[in-house]
Amino acid sequence: MNVIVIGAGGELGFHACEAVCSVLLDTGRASSLVMTYRATRPGHVSRVLAERLQGMKDGSVTEIQLDTSDHAAVQRLIEAESDRLGSTGLAVLFCAVPKHGGAASTGGTAVRAGIVDDVVFAARETMSRGGRFVAISTDQVFDGKPKTSTPIRSEGCDATAHDRARADLNLYTEDPEQDPTCPTNPYGQYKVEMEKSLLELAKSNGWDHLLLIARTSLILGLPPLLREFTGNSDPAAVQLDDALLADSGKAVRFVLNAISNSEQKPLVLFTDEPRNMSFADDLGCALAELAVERAHDENATGILNLVSDEPTNRYELALRLAATLGMTQCNAVPGESKTSGLNRPLDLSLSTHKLHALGLRTRLRGVSERLPVRLDT
Ligand SMILES: NC(=O)c1ccc[n+]([C@@H]2O[C@H](COP(=O)([O-])OP(=O)(O)OC[C@H]3O[C@@H](n4cnc5c(N)ncnc54)[C@H](OP(=O)(O)O)[C@@H]3O)[C@@H](O)[C@H]2O)c1
Repeated sequence: MNVIVIGAGGELGFHACEAVCSVLLDTGRASSLVMTYRATRPGHVSRVLAERLQGMKDGSVTEIQLDTSDHAAVQRLIEAESDRLGSTGLAVLFCAVPKHGGAASTGGTAVRAGIVDDVVFAARETMSRGGRFVAISTDQVFDGKPKTSTPIRSEGCDATAHDRARADLNLYTEDPEQDPTCPTNPYGQYKVEMEKSLLELAKSNGWDHLLLIARTSLILGLPPLLREFTGNSDPAAVQLDDALLADSGKAVRFVLNAISNSEQKPLVLFTDEPRNMSFADDLGCALAELAVERAHDENATGILNLVSDEPTNRYELALRLAATLGMTQCNAVPGESKTSGLNRPLDLSLSTHKLHALGLRTRLRGVSERLPVRLDT
C-alpha cells in the first residue's frame, strides 16, 4: 500500500508516520510511505523503522516538502502515489493544520483555507482515485453546554457503573441528529465546515466507504522517557530539563514550563473543562490501523470520536505531570472556566461507543493510565 502522511512534521503527523511504518512492515507487502512537511522536517521520525521499510523489496520512505495550499503540487503527489506499485491501494492521512489558537482562535481567511479548502482538495484527489482519506477534526465542533436540564455528568474515573450510564446521556456522539454541531469559535466553525464538505463530497460521489473523519480532543505528547512510565518508576530518574521539554508535545511542554517555574505567577488551570485527552503515540497507532488495516472496513467510515475514554481536566493533568516528575511544587492553581469570562466550551466529553464497537487493536489510554501517580488533592 502507498501511504501519504501530510503534515508529518507536526505532533500527530510524526507519530502517525512511525505507526504507519510499523503497520506497513507487518503487512509484508510492497509499500511506500511519503511524509510531507512544510517547514519542520519530521527528522527523528521512525528512523529505524523507516530504514527497515526502505530495505524491503519495493519498500520506500520519502520525505518531501509540500505546502497544502499549493493544490497543483498536492495533485501531482497524490496522482504519482496512486500510480506507484501497481494497484496496491492508496491512503492519505491529513494531519497538517495552520496555526489556529484552538478555543481562543480568532480565525482568518488563511486559517479557514488551510482547515477547509486544502483538506477538501486533497480528499477529492485521493477518493477520486479510489484511495482512503483520513481527516482530523476536533471536539471544538460542540459548545460544551449540558445537553440535559440537570448536569448529570460524573467526574473522574471512580464513577460507579450507574453514574457512568447516566453520564453517557450527556456525551457527544457522532450522530448529527442526536448531537448537531454547534461551535463557539472560528477554529470549531472551520472544522464543522470541513466535516460537512467532506461528508457531502463523499456522499455525492459514492465515496462514503473511503472517508474517515477522526474527531479528537486535546493531544498529549509525552517525551520518550515518560512513555513507558509505570507508577513504580522512580520519578527522580527523569530530569525536567530542556531536552525533556523539547521532546514533549505542545500541550505537555506548555504545562511543564509553567508549573516548574516558581518565579512566575501560578498558572490557572481549569477544572471544569473535561476533555477526552489522548496521547499522540496512541493516536498515531490508531490512525495507522484505521487508514491501512481497516481501509476496507465500512464501519470505520464517516465521523469517529477517536479519543480515550477518560475525560480529564487540565489541572489534574498538571498535578499528574508534576507528581510523575517528582516535583515537590506545582506552580499551578485550579480555576473555573465558567467564571473566567472567556466563554470557552465547558464539557466536551465524547462518546466512545462507535470506537469500541470497531474493536481496534490499539487502545487509546487516558491520562490516569499513562501517568499513574497518586494524587493527594
Ligand atoms: N493538538 C491538539 O490538541 C488537537 C486537538 C484536536 C484536534 N487536533 C487536530 O489534529 C490535527 C493535528 O494536529 P497537531 O496538533 O498534530 O498539529 P501541529 O503539531 O500544530 O502540526 C501541524 C503541522 O501542519 C503543518 N502545516 C501547517 N500549515 C501547512 C501548510 N499550509 N502546508 C503544509 N503543512 C502545513 C505544520 O508545518 P510547519 O510547522 O512546518 O509549518 C505542522 O507540521 C489537526 O487537524 C488538528 O486540528 C489537534
